[in-house]
Amino acid sequence: MKITVVKNYDEMSREAAKYVAETLTSKPDCVLGLATGDTPIGMYAELVKMYNEGKLDFSKARSVNLDEYYPITPDNDQSYRYFMNYHLFDKVNINKANTYVPDGTAKDVEAHCKAYEANIDALGGVDVQVLGIGRNGHIGFNEPDAELVRGTHLTALTKSTIEANSRFFASEADVPKHALTMGIESVFKARKILLLVSGANKAEAVRAMLKGNISTNCPASFLGLHNDVVLICDEAAYSLV
Ligand code: GLP
Repeated sequence: MKITVVKNYDEMSREAAKYVAETLTSKPDCVLGLATGDTPIGMYAELVKMYNEGKLDFSKARSVNLDEYYPITPDNDQSYRYFMNYHLFDKVNINKANTYVPDGTAKDVEAHCKAYEANIDALGGVDVQVLGIGRNGHIGFNEPDAELVRGTHLTALTKSTIEANSRFFASEADVPKHALTMGIESVFKARKILLLVSGANKAEAVRAMLKGNISTNCPASFLGLHNDVVLICDEAAYSLV
């Protein structure tokens, strides 16, 4: 894992945007693996800025997102589809038909998950997968558990994640209790992984990921086994390493 420690959130966002921009520039039809949450918002803003300055062209790019709540409709302002449209897709020239987010309204969940996974392969695999990390070490919605699922699947959210994500909803009771998420193997199929972490509340997760044992109790601990992971972490998040 290549680790870059930066001063703060803004610097993390700029460095991350530069990294994604390099991938997009060298391969205009690249497949971007995208993440949601607070962490990548600044990176998306930087990418939009570069686009507005005429430095980026998303017209040939494709994207697949890591996860989505279940059940949720795409027009719900807490859905990850809504988030992606708001922070990136509506602000750049990506063809939305080429952007994929798990469908929070899917009736046949198993069939949808299979098709989602097959689509990642049909696109040629993800060139760079952007990842955040949960306070409990989750990636996507792969929560700490006795076992981790390989491919895209439906999962129950842990109490800690429901609590953490309740800040976006009117109340904790409104947070969906399930989600669709790419699995650990789906994430590992990406050629490059860009992991972003900011803030003191992630410091323990970063310590566990880098210094703890490799364990399904900390899904992020597996990332050290991938051969091309770049971690951009701010000082506060790196403070316990
Ligand atoms: C969420 C998402 C993850 C995200 C993580 C951290 O629940 N499913 O993809 O990386 O939690 O979120 P944040 O960046 O808001 O701290």
